[in-house]
Amino acid sequence: SILIVDFGSQVTQLIARRVREGGVYSEVAPFQSAAEAFRRMNPAGVILSGGPASVVDAGSPTIPDEILNAGVPLLGICYGQQALTNQLGGRVEKGSSGEFGSAFIEVTDGCALFDALWQEGERHQVWMSHGDKVTELAPGFCAVATSPGAPHAVIANDERRIYAMQFHPEVVHTPDGAKLITNFARHVCGLKGDWTMAEFREAKIADIRAQVGKEKVICGLSGGVDSAVAAVLIHEAIGDQLTCVFVDHGLMRSGEADQVVSLFRNHYNIPLIAVNVETLFMNGLAGVTDPEAKRKFIGKTFIDVFEEEARKIGGAAFLAQGTLYPDVIESVSFTGGPSVTIKSHHNVGGLPERMNMKLVEPLRELFKDEVRELGRELGLPEAFVGRHPFPGPGLAIRIPGEVSKERCDILRKADAIYLEEIRAAGLYDAIWQAFAVLLPVKTVGVMGDGRTYDHVLALRAVTSTDGMTAAVFDFPSDFLPRVATRIVNEVKGVNRVVYDYTSKPPGTIEWE
Ligand code: XMP
Repeated sequence: SILIVDFGSQVTQLIARRVREGGVYSEVAPFQSAAEAFRRMNPAGVILSGGPASVVDAGSPTIPDEILNAGVPLLGICYGQQALTNQLGGRVEKGSSGEFGSAFIEVTDGCALFDALWQEGERHQVWMSHGDKVTELAPGFCAVATSPGAPHAVIANDERRIYAMQFHPEVVHTPDGAKLITNFARHVCGLKGDWTMAEFREAKIADIRAQVGKEKVICGLSGGVDSAVAAVLIHEAIGDQLTCVFVDHGLMRSGEADQVVSLFRNHYNIPLIAVNVETLFMNGLAGVTDPEAKRKFIGKTFIDVFEEEARKIGGAAFLAQGTLYPDVIESVSFTGGPSVTIKSHHNVGGLPERMNMKLVEPLRELFKDEVRELGRELGLPEAFVGRHPFPGPGLAIRIPGEVSKERCDILRKADAIYLEEIRAAGLYDAIWQAFAVLLPVKTVGVMGDGRTYDHVLALRAVTSTDGMTAAVFDFPSDFLPRVATRIVNEVKGVNRVVYDYTSKPPGTIEWE
């Protein structure tokens, strides 16, 4: 395995991901407890992450001596390079100006890290992001790649198997970065590269058992992939100490509530409390048109219902959540700085404090596509695992203006036709999210010999990797007209269909 020592970079988990992609198991440990993790794991190599500190400053984080002197291969990235140099007897200085963004480096010498990948004399694109730089190499090191801004872009000590770079190989803007990391793990550290998601599952099951002991865990199912994968994994670990709660607020897509209930009850035999509170939600949403007011009502009411159900089963010490790594980064990067709330996201965030519960979040290190892979590993049906993301407040934020059961029903029908056509055209997996929005606008139409006066429906489809940015999906030219015709013919209450051509930013994916 590989130990990744975290010095606080925003992208440390990306290093872990790249190592996993190379088929090697890795764990991330904060620098404060890295020595302990090193002893426990006995890893074949260690990667030292970037971080916001400056090694020049007193009290800056250091690499534990135990790791430095163990004789295992080391790979330092950015701050990791500076810490290595500083602690091994070289010199690091504060740069008068930082270097950020794309740069080209030239390979000036060979080293084991470059074997079968980079040759002397080649130029390669990398992503730089640093303020300080190495000005004097530690004994035994030589520069093996340089750039005008970074003469020590990559340094190597083949004898001690220590390598370090000023740029970030873990981000996609360094095109060969993943290969460099894999080369380190497999070629330099000698690991086989045959690790799979099956082993992640086993490791997490052990972690969950250790964390939870004999206590009870409660998990809210949203109908989405993340909470379902978390629940199935936790159930494998602790069996019926887990109870799932599914709050059906009547704002789900067509057939979704039934699918969730039957998957959990019949397929997995996981204890599930399903409550239908459609009337409660529809009554509360009557007359509410402001998007934030809708979100707040739904979030609060959801928590009230969840809490009541949790009390009925006698409470639980733990709340399980399907939090993913992008959710963690977003919330971390917003702490400490003023940030604008674009939308109040709906989750069960207020519950742990209110009910005095601890959190179980087994997916915290994973990215969406890895969660899908884990879901497949756990035997979740493909149609469920590959499902597009769906927001907690459901159809309510796809009905600008007032929400009612009647409007939800119209939207559900139209949405189902749209998705059916997308699946039939084989486009579902190429799209991040596709959905219909029912507008509070009526327009005039003609059907047969009669005048119609009905709702406008908007269709949206975007591509994205994490939902943070999105591009409009470009359908083949005959696709949208066919969908529009079907919807107007088959869905009573809609007589016009439009397509949303706005990217994110400036638009958001959902309309509210
Ligand atoms: P926006 O609309 O902000 O959405 O571009 C980005 C992604 O987040 C989803 N989304 C939500 N997910 N609770 C959720 O669990 C919410 O309140 C919520 N609002 C938006 C949205 O569907 C998209 O995938």
